[in-house]
Amino acid sequence: MAEERSKLTMFFFSHQIIILCFFLFSQTSIASSNTSSVGVNWGTMASHQLPPENVVKMLQDNGFTKLKLFEADQNILDALIGSDIEVMIGIPNRFLKEMAQDTAVAASWVEENVTAYSYHGGVNIKYIAVGNEPFLQTYNGTYVEFTLPALINIQRALEEADLKSVEVTVPFNADIYFSPEANPVPSAGDFRPELRDATIEIINFLYSHDSPFTVNIYPFLSLYGNAYFPLDFAFFDGTNKPLRDGNLVYTNVFDANLDTLICALERYSFLGMKIIVGEVGWPTDGDKNANVKSAKRFNQGMVKHAMSGNGTPARKGVIMDVYLFSLINEDAKSIAPGTFERHWGIFEFDGRPKYELDLSGKGNDKPLVPVEDVKYLPKTWCVLDPNAYNLDDLPDNIDYACSLSDCTALGYGSSCNHLTAIGNASYAFNMYYQMHDQKTWDCDFLVLGLVIDEDPSDELCEFPVMIDTGNSPRLQPGSLRVLTRVAATVLVMLVLPIL
Ligand SMILES: *[C@@H]1O[C@H](CO)[C@@H](O)[C@H](O)[C@H]1NC(C)=O
Ligand SMILES: *[C@@H]1O[C@H](CO)[C@@H](O)[C@H](O)[C@H]1NC(C)=O
Ligand SMILES: *[C@@H]1O[C@H](CO)[C@@H](O)[C@H](O)[C@H]1NC(C)=O
Ligand SMILES: *[C@@H]1O[C@H](CO)[C@@H](O)[C@H](O)[C@H]1NC(C)=O
Repeated sequence: MAEERSKLTMFFFSHQIIILCFFLFSQTSIASSNTSSVGVNWGTMASHQLPPENVVKMLQDNGFTKLKLFEADQNILDALIGSDIEVMIGIPNRFLKEMAQDTAVAASWVEENVTAYSYHGGVNIKYIAVGNEPFLQTYNGTYVEFTLPALINIQRALEEADLKSVEVTVPFNADIYFSPEANPVPSAGDFRPELRDATIEIINFLYSHDSPFTVNIYPFLSLYGNAYFPLDFAFFDGTNKPLRDGNLVYTNVFDANLDTLICALERYSFLGMKIIVGEVGWPTDGDKNANVKSAKRFNQGMVKHAMSGNGTPARKGVIMDVYLFSLINEDAKSIAPGTFERHWGIFEFDGRPKYELDLSGKGNDKPLVPVEDVKYLPKTWCVLDPNAYNLDDLPDNIDYACSLSDCTALGYGSSCNHLTAIGNASYAFNMYYQMHDQKTWDCDFLVLGLVIDEDPSDELCEFPVMIDTGNSPRLQPGSLRVLTRVAATVLVMLVLPIL
């Protein structure tokens, strides 16, 4: 159930001047939500979840008023009861086929996951996102035939449950639309030919129900996918090489991308279609362009731009409805799209903010409030024993540790890439140890591991201590080192006679 993300392939370099469909732009508007603030995606593919109540409190402390969930997580929905936070709930792709084929399946999903929470003082559920990027190329068309029927069945179930204020939508990957290579400007935007009919059918349904079109836009991936992509064009603070399209001037790829969609919609007469940007953000690790400085620059620029009411060159004067991706790091996400995948959070795995972000859009250096009352495991770390004498098994042990934990911070351009080979081993051992709740035997590694109580982190590379979700053996910190040493000694004693 990896939420694989599109590799955005649109790059706007050309300075060609073409005017195609701008005469239609005047009548458009971006979905205006009551709460004028940015939203945020809360993904839960982490090995250790923070208590949902504490996270909800943090959302409120920081003034997040809109939340997007990838599925109807009961613990999260329970924690949201009584809050005013407006929620978009996703239906994972794996449910689409059954929902498309059986109206009762859609109805019971709505009953259990929407109706049950939609009472006065319950959860403020505003949107149901049917599928997540179901037309992504990596899915080989698996969900194309099921998305519309599932959407129709969910809409019908909502109507039958008398949930009139809940709207449906489908979050699309941005590569369902494009501009031709010969004319790479927003005004030439159109839907991809192979998916055009299926896409337009869905838009037709959404449009006739006054429901929004949702799209995920990732300028980071433009940069990641193309070494020649002009860096400044990925951000919002100007570039000396703007893209000109007729008499419109683009200084950032986000606007160019969004206007490509708007133009594609107008091309098929979907005038004034509401648009939600379902995901947009910047990771902080796992790639040379993924760091705190760039993430802050991008997200602060995004919030400021969205809230400014400037709109895009083709859709001026609107506040944009955007959901940042994402709230908290997810150490169990698939890294098929890249090792940065586990580092999209504005907050670390334990709810510490990574950087300042002014959600009001004024762009002040405003500190975010962390998740409070976080419980941690004891302050112990697992490292390569400096006295280990036989390192023959080390590479295998590192591979093993990394394959069952998260070593994405070790790669090229990442925060721990400067470590020595010994530091690498320790990092891998520690990640395994922490992600397995610091169980003593999880720092064995054929006696190469050693539990210590002195933090091995340096200024750039953090050796984390995992949060306590109640699964740890709860040993006293002091006893761990002794225990491991005893265990190691016992093992050596057992092994020696054999040798
Ligand atoms: C905004 O909120 C007010 C009061 O809560 C409500 O009456 C109004 O219908 C809402 N408007 C929109 C566009 O949701
Ligand atoms: C409600 O949503 C959850 C989370 O996606 C899912 O596991 C469950 O099956 C849904 N309930 C129904 C009745 O479909
Ligand atoms: C899509 O097709 C490719 C090539 O045929 C295959 O390697 C891949 O596993 C398929 N992916 C899915 C999700 O079916
Ligand atoms: C540490 O591990 C990373 C990722 O596997 C690798 O790129 C780097 O070269 C290693 N460093 C040393 C000194 O072996």
